[in-house]
Amino acid sequence: MLNIVIFGAPGAGKGTQSDFLIAEHELYHISTGDLLRDHIKRQTELGITAKGFIDQGQLIPDELMVSILADVIKTQDQAKGFIFDGFPRTIAQAEALHALLSEHGTQVHCVVGLEVPEDQLTERLLLRGKSSGRSDDNEETIKRRLDVYHKQTQPLKAYYTERGLYHAIDGTGTVEQIAKRIHESITKQ
Ligand code: AP5
Ligand code: MG
Repeated sequence: MLNIVIFGAPGAGKGTQSDFLIAEHELYHISTGDLLRDHIKRQTELGITAKGFIDQGQLIPDELMVSILADVIKTQDQAKGFIFDGFPRTIAQAEALHALLSEHGTQVHCVVGLEVPEDQLTERLLLRGKSSGRSDDNEETIKRRLDVYHKQTQPLKAYYTERGLYHAIDGTGTVEQIAKRIHESITKQ
């Protein structure tokens, strides 16, 4: 199995670059954001709960998020590997992911960290907000998402660096240039 975490701030290109990695390694894509937005669309109980947090740019509580992820991993146990996009977002989630994958006899193999300056992140998200229909792609919520990222998620960079798993990738330039950098970094390991 090959399990990749694609990591980065809001707008860093996690979803965009996941598409390349899926095609190359035949991985099962778990985007926790997409999963939650699907629940919101279907107006499930989870969707109603999640919407309150997403609209405020806040994280869904760890316990809830971990139980959702555990269900996906369980139902996709035939997969060749996973690409985790938007998860983990806290140290507690990283610990839970480690425990979950261990139960399935596997682990996180590498963390692709897309590094993009803050002004470019905001620019990308504001541009997407013109057509995405995403309730969190507006100036005020983007600010909050970035703030939450710095406080709660960024510490994972050190966490995975200490474990020798973090691959820092320059996330600026064209989508293809970035995909090439990721490819080279992963195959070199
Ligand atoms: P989530 O959906 O994960 O959103 P996010 O992390 O804020 O990131 P985005 O999806 O906006 O950006 P991305 O990095 O995927 O970039 P993309 O490829 O789209 O989470 C949303 C919310 O759900 C959270 O705020 C939270 O409330 C909740 N949530 C999700 N997971 C959770 C968890 N684990 N725990 C708790 N709560 C959770 O690219 C962005 C834009 O830039 C696109 O328009 C794209 O076309 C463009 N772009 C991409 N690459 C380039 C490039 N090289 N040059 C120019 N433009 C580019
Ligand atoms: Mg995304």
